[in-house]
Amino acid sequence: MARKPLISGNWKMNLNHFEAIQNVQKLHYLIHKEVFDDVDVSIHPPFTDIRSIQTLVESEELEFALGAQHCHSEDTGAFTGEVSPAFLAKLNTEYVICGHSERREIFGETDEIVNAKVLAILKHAMTPILCCGETLDEREAGGTEDKVLGQIAAGLAGVSNEQIASMVIAYEPIWAIGTGKTATSEDAQTVCAAIRTKIRDMADDVTADAVRIQYGGSVKAGNAAELMSQPDIDGALVGGASLKPDFVELVRNGAG
Ligand code: PGA
Repeated sequence: MARKPLISGNWKMNLNHFEAIQNVQKLHYLIHKEVFDDVDVSIHPPFTDIRSIQTLVESEELEFALGAQHCHSEDTGAFTGEVSPAFLAKLNTEYVICGHSERREIFGETDEIVNAKVLAILKHAMTPILCCGETLDEREAGGTEDKVLGQIAAGLAGVSNEQIASMVIAYEPIWAIGTGKTATSEDAQTVCAAIRTKIRDMADDVTADAVRIQYGGSVKAGNAAELMSQPDIDGALVGGASLKPDFVELVRNGAG
């Protein structure tokens, strides 16, 4: 089954709302319209930019999908500083990254917290981008699949097959994030294939064939096409390179 690839730009804590508007306008102008026939592109700016980007995308009918970088699992309540998935849905946010390794490692998000967020995002008819990935020590000890498949099983607990089919999984080896080191396309393919097999076992063939699996970790214009040509890699979650003009070529190359 053909899965339309998704390239997601995770801006992390970069670009204020003025810079964000300029960046999105420039990117959209440079990525030619036809490219969007072959690839979906989501932009994940900081929370303070989302309303501005929403207005821009909707008023100018840009093909970018609006994304967020994380959210809380509850709709409202005494959670100082947190962001409600209900409020993100109200801004027509389509994709929400959850369980990014920076959230897990710096902010202590456990598999259980990530799972609660996946369920909350789906409840509001948004698409979770569920991240998983191993550390260098885990890889060197031969523990990559145990770690990654464990995160997938825990993150998808209580999620229906139909919901899983609509989701995006992002395999991001932690040692490759922001380091300039990328998994070889064969290694990335091996892990992404194992994730799809795990979903086949947990759910069924239809679900496994539909779910989109991204690779993330130092993806740039020069390696996007090769990574995305692998049979089980359906896109890329891009950090650093999504802030650079390089992102235009990356999207074009990824679209094939
Ligand atoms: P990177 O980040 O592309 O800068 O390695 C990827 C990510 O953290 O999603």
